Amino acid sequence: MDNGTNPLKVAVIGAGYWGPNLARNFSAALDWELVAICDKDTARAAALARKVGFPAVVGSVDELLTGHDVDAVAIATPARTHHAIAMQALAEGKHVLVEKPLADRGDAGRQMVALAQERGLVLMADHTYCYTPAAIKIRDLVFGGELGEILYIDSVRINLGLVQPDVDVFWDLAPHDLSILDFILPGGLRPLEVSAHGADPLGAGKACVGYLTMPLAGGAIANIHVNWLSPTKIRKMVIGGSRKTLIWDDLNPQQRISVYDRGVNLDCQELVRGDVTERTEAAISYRLGDTWSPSLEEFEPLGRMVAQFHASITTKLPSPTDGSAALRVLAVLEAASRSLAEGGSNAAVDGSGIELQEVLR
Ligand SMILES: NC(=O)c1ccc[n+]([C@@H]2O[C@H](COP(=O)([O-])OP(=O)(O)OC[C@H]3O[C@@H](n4cnc5c(N)ncnc54)[C@H](O)[C@@H]3O)[C@@H](O)[C@H]2O)c1
Repeated sequence: MDNGTNPLKVAVIGAGYWGPNLARNFSAALDWELVAICDKDTARAAALARKVGFPAVVGSVDELLTGHDVDAVAIATPARTHHAIAMQALAEGKHVLVEKPLADRGDAGRQMVALAQERGLVLMADHTYCYTPAAIKIRDLVFGGELGEILYIDSVRINLGLVQPDVDVFWDLAPHDLSILDFILPGGLRPLEVSAHGADPLGAGKACVGYLTMPLAGGAIANIHVNWLSPTKIRKMVIGGSRKTLIWDDLNPQQRISVYDRGVNLDCQELVRGDVTERTEAAISYRLGDTWSPSLEEFEPLGRMVAQFHASITTKLPSPTDGSAALRVLAVLEAASRSLAEGGSNAAVDGSGIELQEVLR
């Protein structure tokens, strides 16, 4: 175990599409020692091991936990497997980093967080976008009051995506948008209800196109559009504020963030005469000010993320994507699934148990 100077030993479980990104970043970090790659497809694990300094190649989680000395594991296997692997690793006293979504069910996620707490271990989600320069800048602007009160958030995440075998498009893509909301909103992601509409126009057996709508604090609203069937890729978030509106276009590296001093002003002066229509018309004016694009630091988000995982273990301070953040995301996804099953009706978000886990925000 870490004595404050030695690197922590970590194994990456899952060497498919995303696991190699984790392995590369752990391998590059001086305070981590990547000791093993575990995948039930050992040829895949071996191919990855060759690229990241030849850590051990392991074919099962049992073999990893019994035969190798690790402080932590990072789980990049399909969502339906996260719970079993994480519970096994936590029971063996390992700190655990889990890919999004933390689990494929809310109760599974709650069990994982509870066991980590009971054992005094770190359980953290890889909500990658929360470690991007853009999200960090947006959070600073929101928390600094630059945008004013948040009025609405509109997020679009669409492309030709792999239809996942175990989760629908909400559980696959919306964790990104929801974790960003949780990160940038001062009160975190705490809608009381959500409504979800989805479609499976190709007969894949699960929603491949989805719309998620939820009220935010102070009468604001958020809409998230996720889609695996779009031939064009869009990653855009519009955050409308009472002072300014921000647009995050993640596919525009020259100008990922634009801040518009443009919008609608509602002046609240009392008019002595006139009906409601006249009053409303009279009170609206348009602001047509400048647009600016803040400069962003350059760094690899996963490098920050693995550094945060290390810091959470060594300092015991929670990360912005700790278990409670991951549970807030799962709570919204669960409610979205209920809403979907009920034809899009509003479904209450069950936030019970989440506050208990929260140490600091
Ligand atoms: N953070 C991000 O931006 C991001 C991006 C893509 C995927 N992901 C997440 O990463 C996770 C993995 O997704 P992927 O696209 O890499 O999947 P994948 O199917 O490409 O790879 C999964 C790998 O896990 C292995 N595996 C499955 N069960 C196992 C087990 N019990 N023990 C050992 N190995 C096992 C498989 O053999 C496979 O190699 C998912 O949770 C996904 O949501 C996150």
